Amino acid sequence: MARNLPYDTADLREKDSEHVIHPWGYLKSTDKKDTLILADSEGIYVSDTDGEKFIDGPAGMWCVNIGYRNEEMAQAIADQVRRMTYYSPFGKLSTPPYAELGAKLAELAPGDLDRCFFATGGSTAVDSAIRFVWFYFNVIGKPNKKAVIARQWGYHGSTYLAASLCGKPRDKTYMDLMSDRVHHLEAPNPYRRPDGMSVEAFRDQCVKELEDKILELGPDNVACFIAEPILASGGVIVPPPGYHKRTLEVCRKYGVLYISDEVVTGFGRLGHMFASEPVFDIVPDIITCAKGLTSGYIPLGAFIASERLYQDILASNAETAVFSNGFTYSGHPVACAAALKNIEIMEREDICAHVRKISPHFQERLRGLGKLPLVGDARGVGLMGCVEMVKDRKTKEAFTWETGVGAKVDQRCQENGLILRPMGHLCVFSPPLVISPAQIDRMFDIMHKAIDATQDELVKAGTWKG
Ligand SMILES: Cc1ncc(COP(=O)(O)O)c(C=O)c1O
Repeated sequence: MARNLPYDTADLREKDSEHVIHPWGYLKSTDKKDTLILADSEGIYVSDTDGEKFIDGPAGMWCVNIGYRNEEMAQAIADQVRRMTYYSPFGKLSTPPYAELGAKLAELAPGDLDRCFFATGGSTAVDSAIRFVWFYFNVIGKPNKKAVIARQWGYHGSTYLAASLCGKPRDKTYMDLMSDRVHHLEAPNPYRRPDGMSVEAFRDQCVKELEDKILELGPDNVACFIAEPILASGGVIVPPPGYHKRTLEVCRKYGVLYISDEVVTGFGRLGHMFASEPVFDIVPDIITCAKGLTSGYIPLGAFIASERLYQDILASNAETAVFSNGFTYSGHPVACAAALKNIEIMEREDICAHVRKISPHFQERLRGLGKLPLVGDARGVGLMGCVEMVKDRKTKEAFTWETGVGAKVDQRCQENGLILRPMGHLCVFSPPLVISPAQIDRMFDIMHKAIDATQDELVKAGTWKG
């Protein structure tokens, strides 16, 4: 990757600071001199405009699953651009990669999840899935089923509807969201369970909370429950064993549809193309996916619905029903070609088996960080991890967001060649799936040192006593 790239970092920082609005950017932060401008990449590494090389801890944004700068992907994308650059799949139009990808996802998805709708990313996939659920109930004559149940600390996207499903408190400040149809349950976070309660009892409490909420709203008014198998952006929250199956059973009992949001967990992150069935033993009604679907090379998202739902719509009396939902770039042929190639590479190189093989080592090294005095919880599954830094390990009191502990750890990591994703007192990471055991060791060695150094800094500043 040691290529000489002709960039003027100061000039780019100036332009970046003067002319763009960054997603989740702190608009009042004036010091933009340290914006990291990434210009090159290869495998699990990215490098900045000055040639500094980093292990990419978060795989971009949980997405570059097959790793960076894959020539075969580049070729497949270029070939599709040269062949059929763009066409919309609205109505009765289609393109070869669009049809092929539909069939491929139907083959990969569990159970009878055989009907794909293509969107442009995760948010529009989630948005479209919820609109499809409402459409479905309208068409089959149950128009009162509108309530959507989601969870605190869940993340489902940034369109108005998807954002309204999210449960991260800070993301709601200053933002307007839909409140009348969305209901949030507590996060199924074992680390934050009530003192003295067993994990099993906590799981039962979470399941009961879902059932109580459905009964409170009335099953005839509840459309669906949407849940990430692992609450990724909320801090890699791994629900207690059995939670997924039990919550699905509750949904089935009351005719509530279950949407498994696999935007992060899909395409190998947990060692399987979809995690719902092989990892969590559930076949939901709908799965949403994006990110790893194309390994982030081109934006694409999808929801895959049960054929049963589709057949119910066909069997209804709503002769003129149109699913009036779609985007100019729904199922863009270049994105679909990228997804097909991505899946081909993943299957040929058996990347899921690689993830299953190396995950125990990744998780063991992660648990090792949990022994550090500053770390309250080090949790994860597959190639997903999070360290939660706390003021006091006994009381689990979290640092305030303003302390910026996660950002401090990330900064120290960057100084040693690793990028993490800091969020308040948390740091999350989910490296490209092609990472080797030696690279995993390097990653965790850097994190270990960075957490120690942050601890020293906090002690000196009098912010942490241990
Ligand atoms: C679980 C989950 N759903 C949906 C989304 C939204 O996806 P996108 O950012 O591609 O719109 C994300 C993004 O991080 C996600 O983690």
